[in-house]
Amino acid sequence: MDGSITIPKHIGIIMDGNGRWAKKRLLPRNMGHKKGAEVFQDITRYCNELGLEAVTFYAFSTENWKRPAEEVNGIMSLLKEYLVKAFDYEKENNRVIFLGDKSAFSGELLDLMLDIEEKTKDRTGMTLNIALNYGSRNEIVHAAQNIAKRVRDGQIALEDIDEKLFSDYLYTKGQPDPDFILRPSGEKRLSNFLLWQSAYAEFVYMDVLWPDFTRADLDKAIIEFNKRNRRFGGV
Ligand code: IPE
Ligand code: IPE
Ligand code: MG
Repeated sequence: MDGSITIPKHIGIIMDGNGRWAKKRLLPRNMGHKKGAEVFQDITRYCNELGLEAVTFYAFSTENWKRPAEEVNGIMSLLKEYLVKAFDYEKENNRVIFLGDKSAFSGELLDLMLDIEEKTKDRTGMTLNIALNYGSRNEIVHAAQNIAKRVRDGQIALEDIDEKLFSDYLYTKGQPDPDFILRPSGEKRLSNFLLWQSAYAEFVYMDVLWPDFTRADLDKAIIEFNKRNRRFGGV
């Protein structure tokens, strides 16, 4: 990309449109998820090449459990196969963090998640956040409960609670807020993604379905981001 372009520090990506991609091809929805997982790998590598500090992929929401068991099971096995095992985390310098409530996971998948987080925690390259069983409202409620417990136990005072302290109780603790949130598939909503963290993010919506998303689409989104005039409430 042209050197005059500012690369965002942290992009949040809502990987959407897998089901519609499969439907268009008369394929089962899980084939869309499989193609989507491949695109996830490639776009992660590209984010690394672009020099991002962090990227957050929304892979499974707290609401996605409503889907038919067959689809949920299919996504979980894909996660094991593609998003986790097949991901070349041994060779890349990424710090991998799973955002979300891990208590819903068990067995092999949970072990893999914990193992990857542990093995990559001292990496110095890009932070790769994978939001799994993630929901912002769930995240904020958990933060409130944990802060309340500490106040109750006398570990912190009520007056200590400020925006910085609150942020430290979120799954994204210590990370820069996303500069921009990208949603392919044509939908124009957040669907419970990074509500707190995206207070001042730029939103870019694209008509392409996630399984068709390419590096060139990410370039286009970054160029669009560069046209925005970010004021943060100032003049
Ligand atoms: C996103 O694609 C993947 C997940 C939510 C797990 P969808 O499965 O939501 O695809 P559409 O929106 O039905 O096309
Ligand atoms: C958001 O997509 C969740 C993920 C991409 C993981 P959905 O497809 O679940 O969102 P809605 O239902 O269209 O709002
Ligand atoms: Mg969807």
